[in-house]
Amino acid sequence: PVLVVDFGAQYAQLIARRVREASVYSEIVAHSITAAEVAAKNPVGIVLSGGPSSVYAEGAPTFDPAIFDLGIPVLGICYGFQVMATALGGEVAHTGLSEYGSTPVTVATGENVLLAGQPNEQTVWMSHGDSVSRAPEGFAVLASTDSTPVAAFANDDRRLYGVQWHPEVKHTEFGQDVLENFLHRAAGIPADWNSGNVIAEQVAKIRAQVGTGKVICGLSGGVDSAVAAALVHKAIGDQLVCVFVDHGLLRQDERRQVEEDYVKATGVRLVTVDVREQFLAALEGVSDPETKRKIIGREFIRTFEQAQAELIKEAAELDGDPIRFLVQGTLYPDVVESGGGSGTANIKSHHNVGGLPEDLKFELVEPLRTLFKDEVRAIGAELGLPPEIVQRQPFPGPGLGIRIVGSITFERLELLRHADAIVRAELTAAGLDGVIWQCPVVLLADVRSVGVQGDGRTYGHPIVLRPVSSEDAMTADWTRLPYDLLARISNRITNEVDGVNRVVLDVTSKPPGTIEWE
Ligand code: XMP
Repeated sequence: PVLVVDFGAQYAQLIARRVREASVYSEIVAHSITAAEVAAKNPVGIVLSGGPSSVYAEGAPTFDPAIFDLGIPVLGICYGFQVMATALGGEVAHTGLSEYGSTPVTVATGENVLLAGQPNEQTVWMSHGDSVSRAPEGFAVLASTDSTPVAAFANDDRRLYGVQWHPEVKHTEFGQDVLENFLHRAAGIPADWNSGNVIAEQVAKIRAQVGTGKVICGLSGGVDSAVAAALVHKAIGDQLVCVFVDHGLLRQDERRQVEEDYVKATGVRLVTVDVREQFLAALEGVSDPETKRKIIGREFIRTFEQAQAELIKEAAELDGDPIRFLVQGTLYPDVVESGGGSGTANIKSHHNVGGLPEDLKFELVEPLRTLFKDEVRAIGAELGLPPEIVQRQPFPGPGLGIRIVGSITFERLELLRHADAIVRAELTAAGLDGVIWQCPVVLLADVRSVGVQGDGRTYGHPIVLRPVSSEDAMTADWTRLPYDLLARISNRITNEVDGVNRVVLDVTSKPPGTIEWE
């Protein structure tokens, strides 16, 4: 792999993704990694990320300088560039001349691998207070700006490179070229990491992990569990059983997509547990959002565990071999954000269900734990999963249950499913699926307003449209949908959905609003 050393800024994940976009596999490691640990990972290259500190600040993230002597090509970025400069005998100074945002830089003329093929004047994205004031001995200065004499340097013999700016940021005009020059030209790493390789590699890994063991996977209808199960199925076929819980809070057509389209595309063995009645009964008369969430969570776990227990019993009766493995669709950002632990973890299953031994433990199978979301989608497509599943927008676990403001009834769910289906169809027809992050459709079941339709007065419910744009759902802005599209959606819903006489648009960002209404 290429190791991306994290100095504590938010940039390491972005760099890791850009490296992968250059078809080179990358892994994020902590800055405290030692030279021996690096050598053990046998990396083909190292990229040092930016960071929030000054290299001279008390408690600034450190880096083992012996790593520069391993003969592995290194690219230092921003803070990583300054770490490299100080470690190798150069100088970093508080010049008082900070640079933030788009900055013009002048690239020195002459041949150099890192900036090869780039114009002499270009715009880069900067974010730094300190500057490298003197390059280490043996290093050539490759670029400068008005306030930074050493904005990039190189030692071709040792294959050590650095840039003050952020090549991973899209505002840097030739950023991806810098990364690719480093990876392919300077370090000589071939561009051969792709979905096909990932699938082959994971299939081999899954086979090695589970052998002839039996595996269970809960499908939610979402992207991650769908792709994880498809990968596992490709590796071990019918040793895998998938469980899909229909709790009645799903959107129109979701169950059919899983039961028919997904099963047809993958051939997985699927058990659907139909608990729609049970969920409705448990939710009857409940309108407080937190209580709803708690009930839905509790019922879901109970259902899934019951199904597990039955399957485990069945498997044991069949050939005495119980189910030992559980598939989880854990993604790389979860792994990195929780400290990057490696290997398989044992989780203890809840034992509030009869039939499960006290100490039953599943070994986890997590074939997506090295991947980012967009890579998971690419792999899903490569595995032949239907686009409606692979391109699906985020949908909350509690489903439509938290999109009905008021208590939940079957009729209200049907009404909301109908309205939601219209909105999704119109957004898709308008080509906006890739533009919006998600668009919750909310039924205000406790609100009624007067309207007029045909010759008569109506007294119906409003439907709220909540289209949002976001990077990560932590913050969001309301999406400016075209008026014509809004008009079409509004007409269709009020004409086609019985009991709805108004459509309103939520124009609140997050914060202060959340994306969902409950
Ligand atoms: P909020 O409403 O908090 O939502 O702005 C942020 C993102 O999380 C989704 N969401 C959930 N996802 N279980 C989930 O799996 C939940 O209970 C849940 N609640 C909200 C929401 O759809 C949005 O993408």
